[in-house]
Amino acid sequence: MKVLLIGSGGREHALAWKLAQSPRLSRLYATPGNPGIAEVAECIEIAPDAIVGFAREENVGLVVIGPEQPLVDGLADRLRAEGVLVFGPDAAAAQLEGSKGFTKDLCARANIPTARYQRFRDAAAAKAALPDYGLPVVIKADGLAAGKGVVIPTTAEEAGAAIDGMFAGGFGAAGAEVVIEQFLTGEEASFFALTDGRTVLPFGTAQDHKRVGDGDTGPNTGGMGAYSPAGIVTPDVERQVMDRIVRPTVDTLAAEGTPYSGVLYAGLMLTDQGPQLIEYNCRFGDPEAQALMMRFDGDLVDLLAKVAEGRLEEAGAVTLADRVALTVVMAAEGYPGTPTRGGAIGGIAEAEAGGARVFQAGTTLVNGQLVAAGGRVLAVTATGDTVAQAQQAAYSAVERIDFPTGFCRRDIGWREVAREGVA
Ligand code: AMP
Ligand code: GLY
Repeated sequence: MKVLLIGSGGREHALAWKLAQSPRLSRLYATPGNPGIAEVAECIEIAPDAIVGFAREENVGLVVIGPEQPLVDGLADRLRAEGVLVFGPDAAAAQLEGSKGFTKDLCARANIPTARYQRFRDAAAAKAALPDYGLPVVIKADGLAAGKGVVIPTTAEEAGAAIDGMFAGGFGAAGAEVVIEQFLTGEEASFFALTDGRTVLPFGTAQDHKRVGDGDTGPNTGGMGAYSPAGIVTPDVERQVMDRIVRPTVDTLAAEGTPYSGVLYAGLMLTDQGPQLIEYNCRFGDPEAQALMMRFDGDLVDLLAKVAEGRLEEAGAVTLADRVALTVVMAAEGYPGTPTRGGAIGGIAEAEAGGARVFQAGTTLVNGQLVAAGGRVLAVTATGDTVAQAQQAAYSAVERIDFPTGFCRRDIGWREVAREGVA
């Protein structure tokens, strides 16, 4: 089968690496791809509105859409309308990520545990509601904002300013509507499930590290590192997440005529009252996918095709290996602000010699030299029997990378390493 992968990040490099190992694969295309992806796929520039035509002409058997924006924009709908098999939800179901208010309303209809909330279209009404939520309070731009549309003010003044900033266009069109939520306390974890709209299969857990600095300090990023599995998601917690959150979501969307097909990524807060939904994403996480793919030994083309065909029940239980995978993101100086571009990168082969995988994200080739071309540049990923072992293996690979204008966090996995130390 010919497969076309959409995207250019570290998540897509990890997916491409796994797709390329499938016995069912005849040819792997990626658009736009990156130099890492080009080692396992044919990278081609295809204009967004030419993707459907390309898939038809090249007889592509499966399109795998990595990032959220094309899903929210309806690329999966356009492919399906032309009879092309696609992994990823239609625009209607991708609203789970595209509109925070949509997801909160769905939770209310399906009785899914999540923070108390209200949706607002003007600043005065939003500010008037603030006293009902106490402090800190969570204020979110409704639409896609690259993970940056959430503010958690600790004073009433900051909260008012955050609301004004969003309605003034601080997050562009994403802030035309604002959601105010009660602040939840607990530990966060990510939960992945594959679904064809009927069958739902858990597909691993992870813990992300969103802040740029060690000890979870500094501004939010797309994710500076992750490990999988997240030990705090015990089998009992997993059952609760499936029964109270994921299955009701899939069933409600199906019953309402907008079935969800693809991977559903639930961001959870594990509270004293049990797991609560913070948000949904309609795609794999980045860098969580890099860790998940290091634990998946099966045939990814076959699995994603079964999701796309609505035949997921035939897949049986999907198992990820017991080993722990941990990924450390190396970013370009300045990230998450303006990253320095053009810094030379070397040492990838040396880093991989010990069994680690270096997934590429914001990289490009200039006269044959690999250089940084984005914020998050590499995702250095290794496995071990414990988080501590995987952490050690990942950082010893990081040491072999020669990327003077890059930096990384030094403590990815710290919560779990501390727990392992106690156990
Ligand atoms: P989101 O983009 O919705 O995942 O939010 C980004 C981050 O904001 C999350 O990873 C949490 O750390 C935090 N957050 C979002 N909603 C809440 C909430 N209701 N209570 C506490 N923290 C939250
Ligand atoms: N790592 C967070 C995300 O992919 O949304």
